Amino acid sequence: MYIKRIDLKNFRNYKELDIELGKGVNIFYGQNAQGKTNIIESIYMASTGKSHRTQKDMELIRWNSEDAKIRIDYQKKEEEKIEIYLNKSLKKQIKKNGVRLFKIGELIGNLNTVIFSPDHMKIIKEGPAERRRFVDIILSQVKPGYYYNLVQYLRTLEQRNNLLEEARTNSGILKTIDIWNEQLADFGARLIKARQDFICDICCMAADIHKKISNGKETLVIKYNSSIKYHSNSEKEIKENFIIALENHINADMGRSVTHKGPHRDDILFFINGTEVKTYSSQGQQRTTLLSLKIAELKYMKEETGELPVLLLDDVFSELDDERQKYLIEFIKDMQAIITCTNVEHLEKLMLEGSRTYKVESGMIVKD
Ligand SMILES: Nc1ncnc2c1ncn2[C@@H]1O[C@H](COP(=O)(O)OP(=O)(O)O)[C@@H](O)[C@H]1O
Ligand SMILES: [Mg+2]
Repeated sequence: MYIKRIDLKNFRNYKELDIELGKGVNIFYGQNAQGKTNIIESIYMASTGKSHRTQKDMELIRWNSEDAKIRIDYQKKEEEKIEIYLNKSLKKQIKKNGVRLFKIGELIGNLNTVIFSPDHMKIIKEGPAERRRFVDIILSQVKPGYYYNLVQYLRTLEQRNNLLEEARTNSGILKTIDIWNEQLADFGARLIKARQDFICDICCMAADIHKKISNGKETLVIKYNSSIKYHSNSEKEIKENFIIALENHINADMGRSVTHKGPHRDDILFFINGTEVKTYSSQGQQRTTLLSLKIAELKYMKEETGELPVLLLDDVFSELDDERQKYLIEFIKDMQAIITCTNVEHLEKLMLEGSRTYKVESGMIVKD
């Protein structure tokens, strides 16, 4: 799929922007703080309904404006458009082809994107929440029902935790905990199963890529590390073991009014030649891991949906050495990529057949 047109009104520092994109590489270049990432952010909004860098939609509205609009036209089998309307005093409105969508779950999976910026090193370096988010966003885009199931799981988790809290003063209420355990395990087992399957798939793809980039020297392994133990990876076994784990940990859970076991506590681990990347690998190896992971993500989405997603590359070229840059460029030549960079040096390398460039200056696209 590819984006044809971006139309913004009062979005971040864009008063008005209406541009057409090419099917291939589109490079937004210019100095810092001009509005390059804002373009990526607007596309990401149309893809997921949320910004990749703030939880607060109000920050996206141009200062001194009351409302903002994003419209993205893209080509799948047919031409489609997503519109998002933000208003300081109204709820966010999302439309697809002019029809209002009431849930984020209805939006995700239409305009599919893979986003990659230096900030995504968090996936490798920081806590498990970043890694779970990474997996959840991909699966929400490609697996119908995943996002809905995730929302239901988190809702049930909150209700179970509320019950634990209430049980401190009213222990009789604990009689109903089995119902919550059952429900939590039901939604949770589906999440774990989907994530485990995904990690198996992406592990093979990422390992292949990593091997090539490291000239055959490094073997990357990715593992899903669940707080629930299972052997067969069947939903039934996961659910049964989940319920047992909840029962076994009831005292700890009650002590702090939190649920200690479940996919909200799971992690994804990366290993190179047997040692954990997060703790023991060099910066270079960590970057290669992320690059392999991101390219694998693209391949995975293509395999699952039959279409290549749109690749959003925010400032990544300056962080990659020549070898890795070459590898990435080789990969993107057959797809649509929206790329930002400050360093004009990179422009030349990225000028493939059909590439387009846009110079960004204080919230406007200007002529060179
Ligand atoms: N809500 C907003 N209204 C107006 N300008 C904004 C808003 N949010 C951010 N900006 C401006 O956008 C610019 C940053 O844009 P960004 O796309 O992150 O820059 P870069 O080109 O470095 O990627 C800054 O000049 C910032 O002041
Ligand atoms: Mg930027």
